[in-house]
Amino acid sequence: MNSKPASIPLTPPRIDRLPLPAHVAIIMDGNGRWAKKRSWRRIQGHEQGAETVRAIVRTSREAGIRVLTLYAFSTENWQRPEKEVKVLMHLLKKFLKGEEKELMENNIRLDAIGQIHRLPEDVIHVLDRVRHRTAANEGMRLNLALSYGARSEIVRMVRRLAEKVRNGKLAPEDIDETVLSDHLYTAGLPDPDVLIRTSGEMRISNFLLWQIAYSEIFVTDTLWPDFTKEEYLAILDAYQRRERRFGKTT
Ligand code: IPE
Ligand code: IPE
Ligand code: MG
Repeated sequence: MNSKPASIPLTPPRIDRLPLPAHVAIIMDGNGRWAKKRSWRRIQGHEQGAETVRAIVRTSREAGIRVLTLYAFSTENWQRPEKEVKVLMHLLKKFLKGEEKELMENNIRLDAIGQIHRLPEDVIHVLDRVRHRTAANEGMRLNLALSYGARSEIVRMVRRLAEKVRNGKLAPEDIDETVLSDHLYTAGLPDPDVLIRTSGEMRISNFLLWQIAYSEIFVTDTLWPDFTKEEYLAILDAYQRRERRFGKTT
């Protein structure tokens, strides 16, 4: 007989303890601090961060998440030094090229939200190709938030609605929460059930302001390059234990 106490297996979230979040959104933060801790260049933190992205995409697919939205580059991030922006764009292109095959094999549809037109032409080109190739995949939706800012998304939505009103295609009294949601980049997707932020900052940084109205928030001190499959699964598990009341009583 083995007297060793049985260790608690860290398995993917149990399907029998529903509900699994349909949509997980992640603010991937802390690449720079991860590199700084090692006296490395920030760029090396971003490179390692890209590895974490790969692992978390794979784990999400395995766990049965339907939508994964990753905050990869904000509208504010354009104000970083030109060299860092250049490296981030290069890594993005490399990621898209490198993942194309795996996305197809795992039936993952890749899409992007944000001011895509502001990205460098070569990045847009690869992005369009991967989006197009994976468009019919239904296993999971991977949304990359690129040059994304929630306030600019809301301005865009208001302009689109105003245009419809001006053209007589929409009556002001028909504008409701659903109509509004349908004019955001995330139209047609469920709101995030879970919002994760790595590296400990207690802020939203202009991410999905409308959509996270009732998301369950998890902030971890772990820097993004150190964020593991195990910690991610532990968060999904903790989510399943939370009681979501949506303003009602139990
Ligand atoms: C997240 O890491 C990546 C992007 C915002 C593009 P940071 O680069 O913000 O890393 P810190 O916050 O400086 O550690
Ligand atoms: C948020 O991280 C944006 C992304 C993760 C892409 P930042 O590092 O840019 O946010 P702040 O500056 O800490 O608010
Ligand atoms: Mg940061």
